[in-house]
Amino acid sequence: MSDEVPKAEFSDSVLIKSIIRREDGGSGLAGKKARIGGWVKTGRKADKDAFAFLELNDGSCAGNLQVIIDASLADLGQLVQTGTCVVVEGHLKLPPSGAKQKIELRAEEVLHVGPVDPAKYPLPKTRLTLESLRDFVHLRSRTNTISAVARIRNALAYATHTFFNKHGFLYVHTPIVTTSDCEGAGEMFQVTTLFSEAERLEKELIQNPPPTEADVEAAKLVVQEKGEVVSQLKSAKADKKEISAAVAELKKAKENVSKLEERSKLQPGIPRKDGKVDYTKDFFARQAFLTVSGQLQVESYACALSRVYTFGPTFRAENSHTSRHLAEFWMVEPEIAFADLEDDMKCAEAYVKFLCRWLLDNCLEDMEFMADKFDKGCIDRLKMVASTPFIRLTYTEAVEILEESVQNGKKFEKEVEWGIDLASEHERYLTEVKYQKPVIVYNYPKDIKAFYMRLNDDLETVAAMDVLVPKVGELIGGSQREERYDVIQQRLEEMDLPVEPYEWYIDLRRYGTVKHAGFGLGFERMILFATGLENIRDVIPFPRYPGRADL
Ligand code: 4AD
Ligand code: MG
Repeated sequence: MSDEVPKAEFSDSVLIKSIIRREDGGSGLAGKKARIGGWVKTGRKADKDAFAFLELNDGSCAGNLQVIIDASLADLGQLVQTGTCVVVEGHLKLPPSGAKQKIELRAEEVLHVGPVDPAKYPLPKTRLTLESLRDFVHLRSRTNTISAVARIRNALAYATHTFFNKHGFLYVHTPIVTTSDCEGAGEMFQVTTLFSEAERLEKELIQNPPPTEADVEAAKLVVQEKGEVVSQLKSAKADKKEISAAVAELKKAKENVSKLEERSKLQPGIPRKDGKVDYTKDFFARQAFLTVSGQLQVESYACALSRVYTFGPTFRAENSHTSRHLAEFWMVEPEIAFADLEDDMKCAEAYVKFLCRWLLDNCLEDMEFMADKFDKGCIDRLKMVASTPFIRLTYTEAVEILEESVQNGKKFEKEVEWGIDLASEHERYLTEVKYQKPVIVYNYPKDIKAFYMRLNDDLETVAAMDVLVPKVGELIGGSQREERYDVIQQRLEEMDLPVEPYEWYIDLRRYGTVKHAGFGLGFERMILFATGLENIRDVIPFPRYPGRADL
């Protein structure tokens, strides 16, 4: 057996996880040599500065490895500063009995130090609030909380692909730049180069002013002259060579005129036509946006490959300053052909349960950290959701329950009546107070939902469903899709949406239509739900919200 702990593939160091997360906590590796790299969580000098203890973390797991370094090996004053990067080599040894670690490393060589100036380092040893950490999104991944969130987020992404793969769904990459508004809510960010183009042109025209009318006239005169030369040569039956040289000059003069004319037409500012912005001059020759959902495009794949999902960033320019909204967030959107709303709800429930079970099975250490530091109930909540059937209510039933609660003294800011869009306070009442478990509300009034949802036979409601969970409220929004050609057309009309941008979508109903259904899970909402953190800005690495887009 080698006396060295094998290095992690593709690097020159051993991952701390592979030492301290063994069944024996690493004790079985005592006596072996290892090279470790990590960032100092805490460091202290001991025994009159003869050596130092460092708690090193490399992010491979929540735990740290304790490293003991002799003063002869390095400048201990520098090493003990929180945030310092250190690569050391030495032997693993059992700590003195009674220590909380199962194994520690005694350094024999310091191979790298990435120092920090403690007077300037923004992340002190004492805990900063999550809110103040948002000022340092490039460094906050060094904190216990944000690195635990990163591991949980990764686990949920992996679980997502595992779940859909297991059930035969293909992963489809839908476009980020789109020309159709999926939700029809007008909350799209526009993608355009018109502004930068206008700025460029403005600068260019200052440096290199456009030709004046006189310049153009002068150039035209040259054309005339050159033209006369050609006709003179021709009538004098001049040498062929001579004629073609003159023709070439004439051509050049003509080209010069069109160039000048073209430039003289240049206008600073955004191009306009008939009083409106002229998007035919824009990059895509039409108005384009960042997608709010990949659903419409993924439907075209569902109606060919039967079971698909997309998982990517989505963007909403809603001016929400809540702890549940981001301007850029990730959405998981499965779409199933030959499926109705019932199938859709079953799939959503199975998927959420799978995610919860996955975290319990694969991420318990980080979940325990969350339970300890932020939300005592988060692990029990995962267990509950993984094992309890979700409640199902029609929208009408949900409204009745809310009205009943109002009669019993419950106060809501927004008044409850049939036809309202349920507000977060209503959703949370249902899932947190009334049932204390996930609730699926379905069959919503058609007037508050998107055009693509299937009209029910009552002609009042659509086959929509929202999954509500404690802590978060709406986690999933989905529906059976309107697959009937006439009805989808009528719905677009009713909702005053232009038909042209949706022609391709209507084609899916024109050719080989089929019943199908799908949903979208807000990935960050799922992480909020799992971790128990309060603010969605802390569960995405680089949050974007009104007024803020760092890095
Ligand atoms: O309910 P939504 O708007 O549904 C759709 O976009 C559908 N096209 C999905 C589909 O059927 N394929 O959004 C889906 C989920 C919400 O339930 C919520 O969890 C999340 O996306 N979400 C947001 N998350 C963070 N910030 C925002 N601004 C969000 N808006 C929606
Ligand atoms: Mg919704």
